[in-house]
Amino acid sequence: MEEFDPETQLIRGGLARSPFGETSEAIYLTSGFVYETAEAAEARFKGEEPGYIYSRYGNPTVHMFEQRLAGLEGAEMAYATASGMAAVFNGLLACVKAGDHVLASRVLFGSCFYIIANLLPRYGIETSFVDSADPSEWANAMRPNTKVLFLETPANPTLALIDLQAIADIAHAGGARLLVDNALASPVVQKPMQFGADIVVYSATKHIDGQGRCMGGAILADKAFLETEFQPFLRHTGPSLSPFNAWVLVKGLETLALRVERQSQTALALAHRIEAHGGARHVYYPFLESHPQHVLARSQMTSGGTLVSLDLGSKAAAFAFLNALEIIDISNNLGDAKSLATHPATTTHRTLPEADRLKIGIGEGLVRVSIGLESEAMLGRDFERALDAARAVS
Ligand SMILES: Cc1ncc(COP(=O)(O)O)c(C=O)c1O
Repeated sequence: MEEFDPETQLIRGGLARSPFGETSEAIYLTSGFVYETAEAAEARFKGEEPGYIYSRYGNPTVHMFEQRLAGLEGAEMAYATASGMAAVFNGLLACVKAGDHVLASRVLFGSCFYIIANLLPRYGIETSFVDSADPSEWANAMRPNTKVLFLETPANPTLALIDLQAIADIAHAGGARLLVDNALASPVVQKPMQFGADIVVYSATKHIDGQGRCMGGAILADKAFLETEFQPFLRHTGPSLSPFNAWVLVKGLETLALRVERQSQTALALAHRIEAHGGARHVYYPFLESHPQHVLARSQMTSGGTLVSLDLGSKAAAFAFLNALEIIDISNNLGDAKSLATHPATTTHRTLPEADRLKIGIGEGLVRVSIGLESEAMLGRDFERALDAARAVS
């Protein structure tokens, strides 16, 4: 059969119909599987016969989600996980052992930073952070025992970018892998493997569900890595995705491109409108000409994405902005059909030491807004009302 293009992949990739011939994907809400004979059970456990064994190892609905996402990304393979953090943590652990070194961007989602700064060192894994997007700083920070470079671009919540190809080249020159957390961009906006990334992780809780219903995650890479190095973590430590959540995520993928493209168009229009209003000290959006890396953004992203961040100068102004919103909800999630706004310094990035937080540009005045599917006109008026409220206290 002809290979699916991305739009078709999102609807039909991985579809495995049961003998009933259902139109929609079936939910196989089962923990276990049965075997015709004892010999068949033995053969399946030995890997001599294909088939499912136990849903901690794999499940047909989960597999449909994995195949659909892997096909979209252009990855050889994917494993689904119970959350984005399960994909990040197990993905990192699968790459390293005691004595190895992990090099990461300091601008990371709070829990990713916590794992690298606090958890991995407890198990004898060296970790260090790079403060800037400058590839020469990454190259200088490489050590002989560096096994994995970890980054997110655009970063949450500053929307600072990192040149994927440049960092992939540095990783490979040092015999290391590049692992990219692509949750903020989504595979619609950016495909890191096209720029040399070896492993990509997602919080599927974000754009892939995109309707605020369930948690999920995924790790995508080549078969050799996933089957030999990652699979033991999945099988024996149990971060597996529930079949019900996999079904929600499969249905989420069907509308992913439509949602993310429309949300990104609205985000760009609103970013221009907020800049013109003048009520924010700075507006961060990768496709704005005022973004210091907008040339890089246009070379590795197909749009600026669904997030806009604003610097309102102070915590009082940021809180006045949030409390004046009438349509946009205050919530720390992102990528949802509903527009959501958060104050990272007191929520998602609260666990970062203050000095680290300030070093990466997350001041008390920073607000991150995830743009949803509401009308640009109503969202624009909500922003203007809230910006006026912020201006009144600053
Ligand atoms: C960039 C990034 N990575 C990872 C995660 C974690 O994903 P989850 O909440 O699905 O565990 C998040 C969640 O906010 C995120 O923003």
